[in-house]
Amino acid sequence: MSRPLLRPLVVDDLPACADVFYAALDELYSRNRQPPLPRNPEGMARMFGHLLATDPERCWVAADSERVVAFGIAQRRESTWFLSFLFVRPEVQSVGVGRELTEACMATDAQGDGANGEPSITRAVCAEALQPVSIGLYTSLGMMPRLPLFLTTGRPRNGPPLGAVGDLVAVPFDELAETDHSTLVRTVDGLDRAVLGYAHPQDHRFWSITGRSGWLFRDPGTGAAVGYGYASPTGRIGPVCVSEPRWLPAALDHLLAANDPPDGWQITVPGPSALLPTLIAAGLRFDGGPALYCSTSPGPGFDRYLAGNFAIL
Ligand SMILES: CC(C)(COP(=O)(O)OP(=O)(O)OC[C@H]1O[C@@H](n2cnc3c(N)ncnc32)[C@H](O)[C@@H]1OP(=O)(O)O)[C@@H](O)C(=O)NCCC(=O)NCCS
Repeated sequence: MSRPLLRPLVVDDLPACADVFYAALDELYSRNRQPPLPRNPEGMARMFGHLLATDPERCWVAADSERVVAFGIAQRRESTWFLSFLFVRPEVQSVGVGRELTEACMATDAQGDGANGEPSITRAVCAEALQPVSIGLYTSLGMMPRLPLFLTTGRPRNGPPLGAVGDLVAVPFDELAETDHSTLVRTVDGLDRAVLGYAHPQDHRFWSITGRSGWLFRDPGTGAAVGYGYASPTGRIGPVCVSEPRWLPAALDHLLAANDPPDGWQITVPGPSALLPTLIAAGLRFDGGPALYCSTSPGPGFDRYLAGNFAIL
């Protein structure tokens, strides 16, 4: 077999990338005696396409003479570089293709030390905890494993509230956007910069057009915006971002009350979060093992943030 060659990813590659994604994960999960991931190739291609549209120079494929055999997709959001996807077909793994793709995705963003006007970039990725190869690869590039993120599924036995420590006023994004869209964007960007470390309005647009409903949360006493959160009718919660950890249970209560998804909820919760014991005691269950947040520096305030998925924080 000839060695696959790297080239920039283009829109026509997106279905082939979804094939590589499922082939690589199926093999990983079957090796670890886990069931295969449910299929949603159109949804995956839509997410790849969003990232390609925002960051074309950070998206690469490796292809042999016949087909795409591997791909990497990264994004730059202000001072954070995040690797959203890296997948290599099982038959070409462990010969350096994954490392080559990662380096290609990194190449546009030179790592400075912050001195002399050089940018100081945080590099980050979420990796399957059961995959020593990717964790080793990322660690060798300075992205160290820092924190487990658990996908929990199901529904709280007694419904919301989860023992919220205070209420919040929740205002739908749609309502706010109608009257003053730019204030909404500025408010959400401010919360993201304070908690995540960067603003990313392009990803908020993506969540809005792919079926997630958003709410802005206000302190009922002062009226100040203290967070936002998304929920989808299919049960996906997140991202949820609050200015102080004490608002998180109330924010989650509002989102859980928004829908009654037929297959229950999916909520990504950091291991050290005070919410995790509450959710597990209320009947939610771990869906497999965690992903590990790996990064070159400490990263988001995970006591105030629930990710919407592992590819776009
Ligand atoms: C993970 C994956 C993308 C890596 O790509 P790859 O082409 O197989 O990997 P490479 O050969 O380029 O690099 C492997 C690197 O992993 C590291 N590595 C491998 N095994 C390791 C171990 N047991 N401990 C620590 N590091 C290890 C090494 O740093 C190695 O690089 P080196 O040989 O230059 O030292 C690929 O194997 C894959 O798609 N796996 C299945 C799906 C998956 O897990 N995707 C990542 C989701 S986070």
